[in-house]
Amino acid sequence: MIQVHPEMDDERLVALFDKSVHRQWAQDAVAWEDFDRVPASVRKDLAMVLTPVYLGEQTAMVGVATVIPMLLMRGEHEASLCLAGMELDEARHFRILNHLYRLFGHEPMPSRRLPEMWRYHARLLKSRDPMEWVWGILISDLFARRFYKAVGELDPQGLLGALTRRILQDEARHQAFSDLYLERELPTAAPERRRALLDERDDLFRVMDALATRLSANANALGIDHDALLDGLWSDTERWADRLGLGATGRPRPHGGAVSRGRAS
Ligand SMILES: [Fe+2]
Ligand SMILES: [Fe+2]
Repeated sequence: MIQVHPEMDDERLVALFDKSVHRQWAQDAVAWEDFDRVPASVRKDLAMVLTPVYLGEQTAMVGVATVIPMLLMRGEHEASLCLAGMELDEARHFRILNHLYRLFGHEPMPSRRLPEMWRYHARLLKSRDPMEWVWGILISDLFARRFYKAVGELDPQGLLGALTRRILQDEARHQAFSDLYLERELPTAAPERRRALLDERDDLFRVMDALATRLSANANALGIDHDALLDGLWSDTERWADRLGLGATGRPRPHGGAVSRGRAS
């Protein structure tokens, strides 16, 4: 898995890693005292709707750490370098949300109310295909982009706006990585591996749909239309699937919470 002096000749991925090193930031980059201006009336609803994202940041940490050895086994040193940078980003997002929850004074949604998310994660964790992981990470990042934007708009001049703008810059780099990686790997992937990616996307949307239904009262109270958000996200993934040549685009967005047993085993 480890080579003393690997080639590292994928210049684009190495440049992306260098960029991520330059763009690191710490928790004290934002004015936490501005939290006082987040109205008390929205804190409880925010604590609820942020729960899947909070869990998603932790899952991203686990996912990235899981994929790095897979990539190293394949001699993909440049990609593993990018993911090492991403690991710190996701750890920071997790840390920041953890701090935000302390300020909220409200707990996230209890994990027993997120059964679909656990089932989806259990399925993904069985996968040994880095492409499935990177595709899942891309969809999560696209979701994060829409969701954090919506949260930032609740308080554009304050703490939520400042935090989400920073996180969104990190997520944009993650999308750039997934784009470069999938663009390189997909052309030689067997048709069944490509189909598995579309199945994975459907499963992820069923999970998100179930969660959106459960969180709709809290989201509505904040003026966030979860259904419209998922429609927008579906269009985002359609565009990416189309651009990456995955085929089978133009399908309706799946609803409901049943996650398939999947191919990952
Ligand atoms: Fe993140
Ligand atoms: Fe991310």
